[in-house]
Amino acid sequence: MNEVIKNILTRRSIRSYTDEQISDEDLNIILETAKFAPSYKGTQSWHFAVVQNKEKINQLISVIKEALQNSSIEQYKKMGNIPNFNPFYNAPTIIITACDKNSPEKEADSAVALENIMLAAHSLNISSCWISSLSIVRDDPKVIGILSELGIPENYTILGTAALGFSNNSNAKAAPRKEGTISIVK
Ligand SMILES: Cc1cc2nc3c(=O)[nH]c(=O)nc-3n(C[C@H](O)[C@H](O)[C@H](O)COP(=O)(O)O)c2cc1C
Repeated sequence: MNEVIKNILTRRSIRSYTDEQISDEDLNIILETAKFAPSYKGTQSWHFAVVQNKEKINQLISVIKEALQNSSIEQYKKMGNIPNFNPFYNAPTIIITACDKNSPEKEADSAVALENIMLAAHSLNISSCWISSLSIVRDDPKVIGILSELGIPENYTILGTAALGFSNNSNAKAAPRKEGTISIVK
């Protein structure tokens, strides 16, 4: 099996991280792969905001928590009330992926970029996890305030966040794959 395929098949979502920061060199490679993802009509209408400042990450967590608690959706309210709520699992780096609100394929563009981020990270022995919490509360005024401080342009919306770092737990196993999800017509 070639290394690219092996990398795709062995990537797992990791939910526990050490304090060790990833190197700037690796971060730059990962960001380059995000920028080289395919995008709708080649528009590249995305922005990647990297946050490596613990204080900023904690600030973000606290506004996410508050916004979830204020949600009218019971499931989100519950999430916000989890004691020691930490959606980023103490990862030392997060990459918030935003796209122009007017881009017709913003969800797809962000998803392919995030997948590149996670696969590139894995190939560099860096663990990752896609995190949804920030996207859920992206329209909350306090969240918007912090996002603009982090460099996300106005009129951009959050579609997903990658947590990156070194795993505290190397036992993550893939769930069995569902049967019947492929049909081939020749
Ligand atoms: C759109 C999307 C949203 C996700 N949101 C979260 C999340 O908020 N928190 C989390 O721990 N994992 C999240 N995940 C990771 C999935 O739970 C994970 O990919 C799945 O359980 C399969 O595990 P694997 O990535 O190890 O193959 C998300 C994945 C995707 C694709």
